[in-house]
Amino acid sequence: MILFEIHIKDEKDIVIARQRAREAAKNMKFSITDQTRIITAVSELSRNIYEYASTGTVTIEIVSNSTKRGLMISFHDEGPGIPDVEKALSEGYTTGKGMGLGLPGSKRLMDDFSITSQPGKGTKIIIKKWL
Ligand SMILES: Nc1ncnc2c1ncn2[C@@H]1O[C@H](COP(=O)(O)OP(=O)(O)OP(=O)(O)O)[C@@H](O)[C@H]1O
Ligand SMILES: [Mg+2]
Repeated sequence: MILFEIHIKDEKDIVIARQRAREAAKNMKFSITDQTRIITAVSELSRNIYEYASTGTVTIEIVSNSTKRGLMISFHDEGPGIPDVEKALSEGYTTGKGMGLGLPGSKRLMDDFSITSQPGKGTKIIIKKWL
């Protein structure tokens, strides 16, 4: 079930994505620690959309499998894409002025992390946290 869809086109939209993620995680009764993990990942990945693709979409939804419920958040953009995903996931790799911690940090904080990216076409990242 989709809870929120946030279009990222402005720096203030990163703040909105954070707020929506907090609201969703809180309502689902995630621990404060997990709420913080989720919000941090959403913040980093939304910022990457804004910084590298300029615009994109963040979708926050509730998912479940046979045994548990969780929060799934998708980040989709049609920006330049990432030529070497493996490299981009290693700590300290950046093509900008950052620390190169956004992708590896987000992966570490979440239970599931999947990324598909095509140079010239865009990037899609899906993260999940289970209750
Ligand atoms: N949505 C995206 N589209 C295109 N390239 C991306 C995207 N997200 C990340 N990248 C590429 O992957 C690199 C690593 O991203 P990551 O978030 O880990 O670090 P950073 O943004 O450079 O620095 P930090 O997040 O620590 O401030 C980026 O420098 C950029 O080259
Ligand atoms: Mg980043």
